[in-house]
Amino acid sequence: MKALILSGGKGTRLRPLTYTGAKQLVPVANKPILWYGIEGIVAAGITDIGIIISPETGEEVKAKTGNGDRFGAKITYILQEQPAGLAHAVKVAQPFLGDSPFIMYLGDNLIQSDLGLFLEKFSAQAVDALILLRPVANPSAFGVAKVDESGRVLQLIEKPKVPPSNLALVGIYYFANTIHNAIANIQPSPRGELEITDAIQYLIDDQKRVEACQLEGWWLDTGKKDDLLEANRIILDTCLESSVLSEVDDESKIIGRVQIGAGTKIVNCTIRGPVMIGSNCYLEHCYIGPYSSIADGAKLVDVDLDHSVILQGAKVVGIHQRIVDSVIGQRAQLTLAPQRPKALRFMIGDDSQIELA
Ligand code: TTP
Repeated sequence: MKALILSGGKGTRLRPLTYTGAKQLVPVANKPILWYGIEGIVAAGITDIGIIISPETGEEVKAKTGNGDRFGAKITYILQEQPAGLAHAVKVAQPFLGDSPFIMYLGDNLIQSDLGLFLEKFSAQAVDALILLRPVANPSAFGVAKVDESGRVLQLIEKPKVPPSNLALVGIYYFANTIHNAIANIQPSPRGELEITDAIQYLIDDQKRVEACQLEGWWLDTGKKDDLLEANRIILDTCLESSVLSEVDDESKIIGRVQIGAGTKIVNCTIRGPVMIGSNCYLEHCYIGPYSSIADGAKLVDVDLDHSVILQGAKVVGIHQRIVDSVIGQRAQLTLAPQRPKALRFMIGDDSQIELA
C-alpha cells in the first residue's frame, strides 16, 4: 500500500498567503497542515508516500518536509507542471504508484478519524475504490454521493444544483490500480480539469465496486481563512499539552493550557489558553486569548489578541483594540505610532482583507 498526498494546486481561496507560500504549509497550531496528513498516513502503517508538488511552491514544500526521516517514512516528490485536476495528479504519479493500491489524500484536509480503520475495510473487501463521506448542511458546495443502503456508491456529482443527498466527499480516497484505466478514459470537465469524481463515476458505470464509509469526528478543509481558524481551534482544543520552555516574568499570568517554545520572552502578559506560542518570540504587555497560535520569531507588544493565527516573524505593535478571528502572514507588520494616530498608513498586498470592525 502506498499513499499519494496532493500538495500542488493554486490555493486561490487562501490568497494573499498563497502568493508567497504553499497553502499546505500554512500552520495549524504551529505545524504545517500537510504534516498532519503525513502523520495520519504513517500511523495507518503506510510509509511509502508520494507528494504532488507544483513548480511554484514545490521547493518550499520539499525543503520544509524533507525526505520523510522525521516521520519514519520515505517521501518521493512528484512534480505536476499544471494544476490540471485531482485525477491528473494521479496520472502524473502513475510511475510512482505502479500497480500498488493507494490512499489519495488532499494535502489541505484534516480529519479526526484513524485512516487505518478505513484501510482495513478497503483491504478486507477488495473494492476498487473506497470513498469517505460526511453529511454537510450545504451539499451544493461539494462533490456529492448517492449511496444505497449497503454503502455502495451509485452516483457522484460535482457541486450539484439539486443534491441527491447531503453526503459530501471528503478529500481522502482509497484506490485499487483499476483507477488508472478509469482516468485514462475520462475527458477534462468544463472547468478544464481531469476530475477524480468523473474517474470514480467511470468505475461505477464499468460495474466496478465503489463503496463509501461515513466519517465520524471532525473534518476540516483548510482552504479558506475561517476553516483555517476553525482547524486551529479544534487542534488546540483537542491536542495541546501545557509546556513552558521559556522565560516568563513575574508580572505575567499564564492561565489554562499554554505551550511556549524555547528562546521566547514573555513580559507583563496575560495568556489564557489554549494558546500556542513558538520559539524565539517576544511578547510584552499583551493579552493573548484562547485559540490563538503564534509562530516562531513573532513580536507582539501592547496587543490584545483572541482566536487568531500569527505566522512566522510577524510583528504587531500598539494595537489597543482587540484583534479577533485574524490571520496575519509571515513577516507582516501591523504597528501603531505611540501617540494617538492622526492617519492610517498602509502597505497592503494584493487580495489582503482589512476590516476595521
Ligand atoms: P483544491 O482546494 O480543490 O484546489 P486549489 O489548491 O487549487 O485551491 P483553490 O480552490 O483555493 O484555488 O485542491 C485540493 C488539494 O489538492 C490541495 O492540497 C491542492 C491539491 N491539488 C493538486 O495537487 N493538484 C491539482 O491539480 C489540484 C486541482 C489540486
